[in-house]
Amino acid sequence: MKKHFNIVLVGGGSTWTPGLLKALCKLKARLPLKKLVMFDVNSERQAVIGDYAKVLFSEEYPELEFTYTTDEDVAFSDMDFIFCQMRTGGYAMREKDEKIPLSLGVIGQETCGAGGFAYGMRSIRDMIALVEKVRARSPEAWILNYTNPAAIVADALNKRFPQDKRILNICDQPVNLLRSYGRLLNRDPATFDPVYFGLNHFGWFTHLYDENGHDLAPELKAYIAANGFKPADAEQRDLSWLDTYAAVADMLRDFPDYLPNTYLQYYLYPEYKFAKLDPNFTRANEVINGREKRVFEECRTAVAEGTTRNVHVVHNDAHGDMIVELAEAIAFNLKKKFIVMVPNNGLVENLDDDVMVELTAEIGCNGPRPYGVGKIPTFYKGLIEQQFAYERLTVEAWFEGSYTKALQALTLNRTIIDAKKARRVLDALIEANKEYWPELR
Ligand code: G6P
Ligand code: MN
Repeated sequence: MKKHFNIVLVGGGSTWTPGLLKALCKLKARLPLKKLVMFDVNSERQAVIGDYAKVLFSEEYPELEFTYTTDEDVAFSDMDFIFCQMRTGGYAMREKDEKIPLSLGVIGQETCGAGGFAYGMRSIRDMIALVEKVRARSPEAWILNYTNPAAIVADALNKRFPQDKRILNICDQPVNLLRSYGRLLNRDPATFDPVYFGLNHFGWFTHLYDENGHDLAPELKAYIAANGFKPADAEQRDLSWLDTYAAVADMLRDFPDYLPNTYLQYYLYPEYKFAKLDPNFTRANEVINGREKRVFEECRTAVAEGTTRNVHVVHNDAHGDMIVELAEAIAFNLKKKFIVMVPNNGLVENLDDDVMVELTAEIGCNGPRPYGVGKIPTFYKGLIEQQFAYERLTVEAWFEGSYTKALQALTLNRTIIDAKKARRVLDALIEANKEYWPELR
């Protein structure tokens, strides 16, 4: 019989949770579970999703031991995997991260630029506390983290827990892109063998091999140049996401070498994007009025009806599938390829060893074994070094409580550049984040 595992899902009340629960059901023969616990600091939100989960599991996973809790001992004891997706400050703070910078003349975005900086400064505290709580109770558990901004969280955790080899940071955007390539090329994305380098939300696919070793990237780029780019799940996406994917065609026209991550649009076209963003109605508003309402309503309906048959709770199954498949690869030493964050250590030859890069890696029971990509061209090296300097200074600003480093970080960010703007944004964000940030002196 296959080994059965215990998993805790941190951020149980997230709108992404139902998708993950469905993925656990769908993949239960591949990653069998003994126990699943949902944990959240917000008990009200979590109860809605947790009660939905009870109905779902009664239908699809009756043998599973399931609870949801706000008790850390129940959540973190005797665990094999921690799936972590917390959002410190919730969507209310995401809205501020997006609106405050926009009101001061720079990009406001969840993970990029000044918004991502503010979110990073909030996430570091809670993520460090989480790892400490987990390690006190489950020293051997794998912590699979996709808390954002993942680049900053990964660097901060690496600084604070350098010996801990069982923390793995991952993002679903490379998978979303691979699925989108699959749709455009009319191929199964599971057959792709990608080469990718960069930082989180700041990377490029250089090659996309098929199962015979033939590189599909030239064909894909030609397709995008002629027809534009759209997400695999375009029919389920809000307008802002369709615009975001469409920007890939612009980036490829200007910089045809590699296939860019969608997030690069904010760094390459900050003025254009700024002009397009509405400071009174940002992505946070779109999410609060859309996905947030829909997911919670659907969960309540399922509970009232005592069945999940009539509800549709999953808005993007790539995310849930990816995280469950990652755990499966670790659990059963599958040596399957994923794009993950790791310390560089020569993998990109002309970047510093301590840069937290995002690369393709084989994943097995000892974690990632990443593939090196050699030297990268000057343009990409320059962009990455500037962006990583911003990320590293953000992390140091947090650890040292340094206002100067925070200002340096924001000044280096390509979405800001001007130090006077950086100071105005920083001061406004300090005011808005008093509850969450260390004091910056
Ligand atoms: C992608 C990114 C995540 C990000 C999410 C935001 O999945 O990889 O890091 O949090 O998009 O999506 P949303 O629909 O909330 O704007
Ligand atoms: Mn991401």
